[in-house]
Amino acid sequence: MAEVIIVKNEEEAGEIYGRCVADLIKAKPDAVLGLATGSSPLAAYQALAKIVHEEHIDVSKVRGFALDEYLGLPLTHPESYHSTIHRTVVEPLGLDPTKVHVPGDVLNGAPLEDGDKIAAAGPAYDAAIEAAGGIDVQILGIGTDGHIGFNEPGSSLASGTRVKTLAEQTRIDNARFFDNDIKQVPTHCITQGIGTVLKARHLVLLAFGSGKAEAIEETVEGGVSAFCPASALQLHPHATIIIDEEAASRL
Ligand code: GLP
Repeated sequence: MAEVIIVKNEEEAGEIYGRCVADLIKAKPDAVLGLATGSSPLAAYQALAKIVHEEHIDVSKVRGFALDEYLGLPLTHPESYHSTIHRTVVEPLGLDPTKVHVPGDVLNGAPLEDGDKIAAAGPAYDAAIEAAGGIDVQILGIGTDGHIGFNEPGSSLASGTRVKTLAEQTRIDNARFFDNDIKQVPTHCITQGIGTVLKARHLVLLAFGSGKAEAIEETVEGGVSAFCPASALQLHPHATIIIDEEAASRL
């Protein structure tokens, strides 16, 4: 059973994450952070950056691995997760950009037809995480359909990093980042698998607002099932779910 913490707002959730990760970095200067995109973790990154600067914590050795990336976007595209992670995490925290990795980095917008290259990228990413000693704290958002990373409903709970097709609902949800034009939203992605996520030593899932209430209900109180990928957190020995009252309203 995951630990559930109900907070007033994103800022309060962010402070819990920020304190936890700042203490980790003090104890382990080359900590390995699992990073996520989306709006849910933004206040957490800001809180961590504030503590890092106020307490003069040395982050020069911190390493990072992002959860996922769109396929077919060049790294420099403003909505690529490479750009997003650099803008929202690497720059505000002052991390060494060469120590922060995003699954699509080696592909850099390679066309979907480049099958061999794309198929090799997932296992190589998992091997890189393992070579770094594994992820210490993995931050997670959750999709309205219960996805984590880009593991859509139906994803194997044992999956490794691999290429996936994006669900229609996720493309609709994410069209807001692409001029509200679903045609511009990529159709495929590369994502850490649920099995990859479960290997991290501590999982911190953040969710806010009533739009996430159903997914949170399934995650916390539903059965463990590939139909709600986030329900896999119930299998993890150290998972913390930090949510506001609206996201908790169906619990
Ligand atoms: C995307 C990301 C997920 C994220 C989800 C929710 O689909 N791939 O990692 O959790 O969006 O985003 P938000 O936090 O903006 O609701």
